Amino acid sequence: MQIHSSIPDLRAALRNRGRIVFVPTMGNLHAGHIALMTQARAHGDTVVASIFVNRLQFGPNEDFDKYPRTFAADCEKLAAAGVDVLFAPTEADLYPEPQAYQVEPPAIKDQLEGAFRPGHFGGVATVVLKLFNIVQPQVALFGKKDYQQLMVLRNMTRQLALPIEIVGGDTVRADDGLALSSRNGYLSAAERAEAPRLYRVLSRIRDAVRAGERDFAKLEREAAAELDGHGWKTDYVALRQQADLQVPQAANAQLVVVAASRLGATRLIDNVEI
Ligand code: PAJ
Repeated sequence: MQIHSSIPDLRAALRNRGRIVFVPTMGNLHAGHIALMTQARAHGDTVVASIFVNRLQFGPNEDFDKYPRTFAADCEKLAAAGVDVLFAPTEADLYPEPQAYQVEPPAIKDQLEGAFRPGHFGGVATVVLKLFNIVQPQVALFGKKDYQQLMVLRNMTRQLALPIEIVGGDTVRADDGLALSSRNGYLSAAERAEAPRLYRVLSRIRDAVRAGERDFAKLEREAAAELDGHGWKTDYVALRQQADLQVPQAANAQLVVVAASRLGATRLIDNVEI
């Protein structure tokens, strides 16, 4: 696996490489990231991963400084997964001057995750557009774990006519249902034992909707109450349309239930498609 940190070196390495498939990450890789790398292989000739902890998408009180950085172990995992090229820029490589030109996503950026993380989706969209311009992939993969992120990036790619196919990968979970996340490492043993409740309550909402329940507000309220009754602090549990994450309008809209809740100092997000 080649590793490049400078933009010109990466560009030189990607000349005449056929169809390029790109998987951006912030590192601290787990089986969820690696599943995206494995899927990427089927979409083209050269698989490019990136590792960059993007300051722009972290709020002032978020975990940018303590975000886990495990570069050597990440490189081993990527090489074992058959990744061809790793782009691992420093901040000076990617942001040599203050990033004054930024992507401003539409109103969805202030809803759900965006309501609790002001500026987050603008920071994500900006770095991903910049990475797209550097790597110039034909295909890019993102996990459904970050459902709203996938939707924002899909819509940005379509609206700006970027010649890139966006592919969503299913969420990889631990045996007890907890969605794999770099932030799970912050959980104490007791919190880790409690954490699978989030997926359980979302799965129960899916089953209830499938069984015909249409009082969505009640389902959302009961789920949040169950979590908070077990020591969580829930930011939202929301049944939304898959396509745009808006409140369901059409009776036959495909739905997803998305949630974010805090267990101690750790904020977990998850979602279940219905
Ligand atoms: P990061 O959190 O490192 O995630 C990188 C990719 O892995 C994202 O597309 C994310 O949705 C996916 N992913 C994370 N956990 C997963 C799981 N359990 N199953 C499947 N896929 C999973 O998301 C980011 O980085 C950043 O916002 C980024 C897009 C790189 C921009 O900085």
